[in-house]
Amino acid sequence: MGQDVQLSNVGMCFDEFWAVRNVDMHIEAGEFFSFLGPSGCGKTTLLRLISGFLDPSEGVISINGQDMRGIGPNKRHTAMIFQNLALFPLMSVAHNIGFGLEIKRVPKLEREKRVDELLELVDLPGVGDKKVEDLSGGQKQRVAIARALAVEPSVLMLDEPLSALDLKLRHHMRAELRKIQRRTKVTFIYITHDQGEAFTMSDRLAVMSDGKIEQLGYPDAIYNNPATPFVASFVGETNTFHGSLSEIKDSSAIIDTPTGPLHCRNPQNLGQGTDSIAFVRPETISFMNGAQADNSLPCTIDTWSFEGAFITIQLKTGDGKPLTMRISNRGADLNLEPGKDVHVAFSADNALLLPKEASHA
Ligand SMILES: Nc1ncnc2c1ncn2[C@@H]1O[C@H](COP(=O)(O)OP(=O)(O)OP(=O)(O)O)[C@@H](O)[C@H]1O
Ligand SMILES: [Mg+2]
Repeated sequence: MGQDVQLSNVGMCFDEFWAVRNVDMHIEAGEFFSFLGPSGCGKTTLLRLISGFLDPSEGVISINGQDMRGIGPNKRHTAMIFQNLALFPLMSVAHNIGFGLEIKRVPKLEREKRVDELLELVDLPGVGDKKVEDLSGGQKQRVAIARALAVEPSVLMLDEPLSALDLKLRHHMRAELRKIQRRTKVTFIYITHDQGEAFTMSDRLAVMSDGKIEQLGYPDAIYNNPATPFVASFVGETNTFHGSLSEIKDSSAIIDTPTGPLHCRNPQNLGQGTDSIAFVRPETISFMNGAQADNSLPCTIDTWSFEGAFITIQLKTGDGKPLTMRISNRGADLNLEPGKDVHVAFSADNALLLPKEASHA
């Protein structure tokens, strides 16, 4: 069964460089939790701290309520899967999976029984005698998971484990990993810079930048209500409008931008005069259909790309600013032509206002 992980004001400094700063958070027992962030933001460092390969320069890590200071990686109920899997290619699948048990001197019969159970669990029954080098990428991935689970960790950490696989297999393995996690109820801590992976698999996730947690929450909350300009730009696609907040009206705010005034949602209650950015997702913009809209912009069509289910259209606003919209393909002819003048619209609810000063994007 999984155990919970508490990080209390954890920081990691290499020489003078803080790779992880002020991380204060809790991962529930049995949760599928992901850290999402760009290269170099401190994800692997955080995993190495939790697994005990590094000691934090600051703060305390507790697993299952126990302070981990002075407890080495071998004494923790954690296991880690690295990006390159680190399997033994010439050994059999069964030998690879049972390796950790052999080191722990688990008797042969018991070991074999456990290996068979694990092969069942990762949907590879009967391949125990094959050599690892003869397996496909996805099969190797499953062997690595089985091997990590063999020692019955309470917390399994996975550092970008799918990045070497092709796209189709990666998508398939997302679902497989999620299934395995549900079956075992082990706490999974997953690292990725791929938001699709983080969103589809995780119960909750944390978005990281520059060693800090920018936002922690459920996937839909992070997508729909990003708390900082970094999260709004890093997660999903978005259009940005910069301007100064000129007026507050009930629950919405108006900002003056070079494109014109825009009505926005103002969840942080920014005051008049605040230097702000409005974030508008491409899929929330539509062509004007005669109905009243909070925001309507005259635009010119630049280019578009047909993606089957969706059509992504690049436009230019009156002041020459590029704007991206994405509409679902309902089979109707849209008469898209480069240079055509159109009006597009979006609601104030779909224009999220955040303060510019919090931006380091
Ligand atoms: N042992 C070390 N000594 C000095 N600097 C380090 C050390 N380990 C990591 N760093 C630095 O800390 C920062 C975070 O590194 P980390 O490997 O945690 O990033 P990451 O988020 O896992 O990136 P990626 O997505 O590229 O794997 C980087 O700037 C890296 O150079
Ligand atoms: Mg890394």
